[in-house]
Amino acid sequence: MNQLKELQKSSADGTKTIQVRVNGQIVEREVHIRMLLVDFLREELGLTGTHVGCSVEGRCGACTILLNGENVKSCLTLAVQADGANILTVEGLGTPDNLHPIQEGFWEKHGLQCGFCTPGMMMSAYNLLKVNPHPSSDEIREAIVGNLCRCTGYEHIIEAVQYAAERLSSMSKEEREKLLTY
Ligand code: FES
Ligand code: FES
Repeated sequence: MNQLKELQKSSADGTKTIQVRVNGQIVEREVHIRMLLVDFLREELGLTGTHVGCSVEGRCGACTILLNGENVKSCLTLAVQADGANILTVEGLGTPDNLHPIQEGFWEKHGLQCGFCTPGMMMSAYNLLKVNPHPSSDEIREAIVGNLCRCTGYEHIIEAVQYAAERLSSMSKEEREKLLTY
């Protein structure tokens, strides 16, 4: 957080035009150089599935997205730092009629109560399943260590990710790769 504050302070006032690929679509916007990536996603693009849970201190993980294939907390990243990047948010996973296996897992295994942490959890799970098709429960816990949930106790969340892992493993290599492309 200190580093971010330093960056914000040391930047001269002004705006910058950035181009980003978000959920497969190229978008271009002029943003203030101090705008946080989470605010860019929510306010500029209307992608409100990425949540703010801890007053942007990097502690809760509700704002987790994929930036160039890595999980990042979008409250600790400036929008201008994402210029030219490839971003995946929860809106890019699946649709209500065609859930991504990770979303299906949270649905089937009751991996949520209030659901506030769920988008961030899913993005961390996505990144894990990309590199580890058969994670153990400890590996899942490790992958979501930066994502706090205050209401489920995590057991159902672990089961949800295991469900997703099994669903993805039952698919062809092509199908699986299509669902874990970022
Ligand atoms: S809002 Fe980003 S970690 Fe809490
Ligand atoms: S389901 Fe409520 S915080 Fe996670």
